[in-house]
Amino acid sequence: MIFTPEKEESLAAFIKTRMSPYRFSHTMSVVCECRELLRYYRAPRNTLIISAYLHDVTKEMPTPEQLALCEEAGIEISPDTLRSEKTLHAESAPAFIKKYLPEFYTEETAEIIRSHTTGIPDMTLGQKLLFLADFIEPTRRFDECVDVRRYFYSKENKDIRHLNETILYALRLTIKELAVSKCFIHGMTIQAYNYLVITENMK
Ligand SMILES: [Fe+2]
Repeated sequence: MIFTPEKEESLAAFIKTRMSPYRFSHTMSVVCECRELLRYYRAPRNTLIISAYLHDVTKEMPTPEQLALCEEAGIEISPDTLRSEKTLHAESAPAFIKKYLPEFYTEETAEIIRSHTTGIPDMTLGQKLLFLADFIEPTRRFDECVDVRRYFYSKENKDIRHLNETILYALRLTIKELAVSKCFIHGMTIQAYNYLVITENMK
């Protein structure tokens, strides 16, 4: 599929009908942030931008509907995802895209969207960029998001090491905030954190 400006416009118009104004403005801001990050890193552009548009397409869908979509698509939901409902949309969005927007579905897009909330160990560049863009887009007001944005843009040399260190910082603040709030922490977030601690320390 060739991702023409017309296709992009129709995708933006479609998602606008699927979410609240708040979620739509966050989504558009994630798209802009991905474009900004692509100035520093060479990830597959169209795949990343399509993933950015669609990453929260099921975020405001009731949980039973999301579970039904996943079941229909044969996606098994892990006990951790069932325990932290805010992460379920990352599993149900690829199922939604495959069913309702098949021309925008690829395995790469599904992979990038699946990891955008929790992170996973050994992320691809595209996965890292959506994870970071979702965390730091400028309309985010949480202290952690503002801190991580400042950290990322404070350094002139935005090499892969800096990208990894920024993601590690985001994961550390997420884990800390969840623990302080006595919330359940998704195992994938801990695994993503541990993976980066081990690999970054080996360099
Ligand atoms: Fe998001």
